[in-house]
Amino acid sequence: MQAEKNAANMNALKLKNRQRFTVLDISIRSTVLSFTNDNFKGIKKLVDFEPVIMDWQILINFIDMSTAKTDTKKVTTHVLQAMKQKGEKISMLTSYDFSTARIVDGAGIDVILVGDSASNVMAGHETTLPITLDQMIYHASSVVRAVQRALIVVDLPFGSYQGNSKEALQSSIRIMKEAGAHAVKLEGGLEVRESIQRILSAGIPVMGHLGLTPQSIYKFGTYSVRAKQEVEAAKLINDAKMLEETGCFALVLEKIPAELAAKVAKALTIPVIGIGAGSGVDGQVLVLHDMLGITHEFSPRFLRRYANLYEVMDNAVRAYIGDVKSLDFPNKEEQY
Ligand code: KIV
Repeated sequence: MQAEKNAANMNALKLKNRQRFTVLDISIRSTVLSFTNDNFKGIKKLVDFEPVIMDWQILINFIDMSTAKTDTKKVTTHVLQAMKQKGEKISMLTSYDFSTARIVDGAGIDVILVGDSASNVMAGHETTLPITLDQMIYHASSVVRAVQRALIVVDLPFGSYQGNSKEALQSSIRIMKEAGAHAVKLEGGLEVRESIQRILSAGIPVMGHLGLTPQSIYKFGTYSVRAKQEVEAAKLINDAKMLEETGCFALVLEKIPAELAAKVAKALTIPVIGIGAGSGVDGQVLVLHDMLGITHEFSPRFLRRYANLYEVMDNAVRAYIGDVKSLDFPNKEEQY
């Protein structure tokens, strides 16, 4: 009799709430249930459900059997490795602050790069060279506070690792300890091998970066495509193999011919993430401000813009100014 009653109650509950839901804590009356479906995200007081919930154990079983799942399984370097093996592409974007990192992580990105491109897009410098280790740690710690799922990789800024391998290790330890990052990224091949070895010896995962390496912009003289010539392409392939053998967990290839990037991705067992490196690699990375169209003066061929936030923000700010000047804002409902 009680079983039938419980089943009826559960059916009523199912009918009333078709959302998938997850119990956060069922110990007290004010417990909340968080439920999600494609159209709805919210938190509701358990008291709303009490009329139809007779048996807590049945509720728990029902939830266990339901399709409820949390998508907060953290992305680790091992997860990325498995993605490469399965042929599942890796998504990576930059973030430099709490609010945007929360959106990027919530949307399901696999890797967040706290890039030294912050020097350009956040601080307005012409190159990535001026940003300091302290500033990178500030950006990274803001991102870490926002992120629940993505792997957070932080760029070692110019001058914090090239001098000697001990300095490279000290800089990496500061990034891991003070910001709470999961890995560091540095630019270069053979020249930085010793630094990579020392960082790895402390248990810190390292991501490599070859091709157009912006910290060497004054050596290159231009931001044009790298490794078009055979000699540079051969060095890049050797460097990529060396990075894998040394123990890097992944590699970024920036602005090189698609064919060369695909060849590297095929030759390596670690994931290769491209930016301006074609589709034959294991994942893609873009600078968030570029793909959102916040920056609008920078338009390389590889950049796909997914929004025009420059225009959206410009319109919003103009509307606000107009409302303030015309005394439309604040209105009666917008004051105390
Ligand atoms: O700093 C950065 O944003 C980067 C990406 C361009 C890969 O290194």
